[in-house]
Formats: sequence, structure tokens, C-alpha cells
Amino acid sequence: MGKTIAIFNQKGGVGKTATAVNLAASISTKKKRVLLVDIDPQGNASGGLGIDKAQLESTVYDLLLGGEKDPKAIIQNTSMANLDILPSNYDLAGAEIELVNQEKREFCLKEALSPIKDDYDYIFIDCPPTLGLLSLNALTAADSVLIPIQCEYYALEGVSDLVNTIKLIKSGSNPDLEVQGIVLTMYDRRTNLSVEVVREVKKHFEDKLYASLIPRNIRIAEAPGYGQPICAYDPFSKGARSYMNLAKEFIKKEEK
Ligand SMILES: Nc1ncnc2c1ncn2[C@@H]1O[C@H](COP(=O)(O)OP(=O)(O)O)[C@@H](O)[C@H]1O
Ligand SMILES: [Mg+2]
Repeated sequence: MGKTIAIFNQKGGVGKTATAVNLAASISTKKKRVLLVDIDPQGNASGGLGIDKAQLESTVYDLLLGGEKDPKAIIQNTSMANLDILPSNYDLAGAEIELVNQEKREFCLKEALSPIKDDYDYIFIDCPPTLGLLSLNALTAADSVLIPIQCEYYALEGVSDLVNTIKLIKSGSNPDLEVQGIVLTMYDRRTNLSVEVVREVKKHFEDKLYASLIPRNIRIAEAPGYGQPICAYDPFSKGARSYMNLAKEFIKKEEK
């Protein structure tokens, strides 16, 4: 049975999309079938995997609100053999408002994905940087949430909000939601700040913190411009190796 993991942090720019794209792609090279669901109207994950957003005929929007019942009609292949994407683009921006009037409005994504859940080993959902109905749908559809935290001065600011958000979801639409893990992004081992953030986050989350740290690496920032995950764009870069290590650690924890 496939497992669904929402990549969430209500802060923007912390590496959610980079982690969604690159972790999903790295795991897909380990003989796992992986689907990436892009539920951010910015469509950065879709663009990062080479999808031409302007040319999309149907997107996650059609699945949530457009009456499309078959996710397979929207899912696209990527350049990675075992990685598919359910793309989105700016059409999804209206969904935040339109969903309000929908029956069981937090459950739309969960229901939409149910026919294909077993076609994949892992389904990752790249969330927008807000706690609106789109993120709520992602956190309701998910078995677990993976949280990227950027190594910066205010890293832990907002973490208590995050913990509260997860509690709220657990007491509401998704009692079984678990924390899959915390991944530290844009780590710079030369700065005391990064070292300090690692220590603080460890104190907070203990064994939930992945040992694999994602360094600040220019190749990670460049790759989306070429429509490729880092493991294809520059497989020997520090960034590619760090996401590959994270993929191994992720799978090891899952399979133990
Ligand atoms: N490890 C990294 N090293 C360098 N740049 C990164 C790294 N991770 C993400 N970025 C860049 O930082 C910006 C924000 O990352 P992104 O993944 O889009 O964050 P989010 O999805 O949380 O808003 C993007 O321009 C991205 O290319
Ligand atoms: Mg993003």
C-alpha cells in the first residue's frame, strides 16, 4: 500500500519544493514508484520537472473542482523512469476560494487520490506556503508530514505554529497524521548559526531530525531552470549527494 507524505511548512522559501522534487526523484532511482503531487498554484514543482505550465490542459484543479474523476487523465511522466507528476499551474489559485463552498472541503484531495494510491510506493505532495484549504487538503490526504526547516536565524520561529497546526489537523480531519521527519535545508557548515540551528532542532524533535543535512548548493537552485531534478542535472554535486543520502535514510527508516 502506498504512503502519502505532505511536504509542509507554512513559511515560504525554506526548501519545500526543492525537497519535494529532489527527494521524490532520488527515491525513484531506488526501485520505488513515486508520484509527486503539485498542489501549489505557483507550480514550481511542475516547472522543476520540465512541465510547460502554460501548455497544461488539465491540472490538479480539474481533479479537485473540475469534475475529473480519473487522476490518470492528468498524471504525466517525467524524465525519471519511476517518477510521475500530477501537475498544477496558476489555475489552482482560485481553488483556495472555490473549495470553501465544497462539501467535505478538506477531503477533496484525499478522495481524488484514492483510486491511484496503490499504484505508487510513495506519493509526495508539495504544499503552498500558506495554511489555506489547499494545504489543509494535503495534510488531510497525507499519512505523514515531512517538514523542511531552513538553517537561518529565525529557523525555530514558526515551528511552534507548525506543531499547533499538526495538532489541529490530528484533532480534526486526520487523526492518524504522523510526523515523517524534519530535514534541515540550506545548511552551511562554515557558520556557527547553522551548527546552532541543528542543535536547537535536535533538542526539539530528537529522532525525527534526519541526519542527512541539505547544504546550500547553487546547483540545487539552478536545476529547476533546466526542468530537471538535481540527481539528473548534476549527479556528482554536493546537492545531489545530499538528497540521495536523504533518500536512503528515508527508505531505511521506512523499511525497518
Ligand atoms: N539547498 C539549497 N541550496 C541553494 N538554494 C536552494 C536550496 N534549496 C532551495 N533553494 C532555492 O531557494 C529558493 C526557495 O526554495 P523552494 O524550494 O522554492 O522553497 P519553498 O518551496 O519552501 O518556497 C528557490 O529559489 C530554490 O531554488
Ligand atoms: Mg514551493
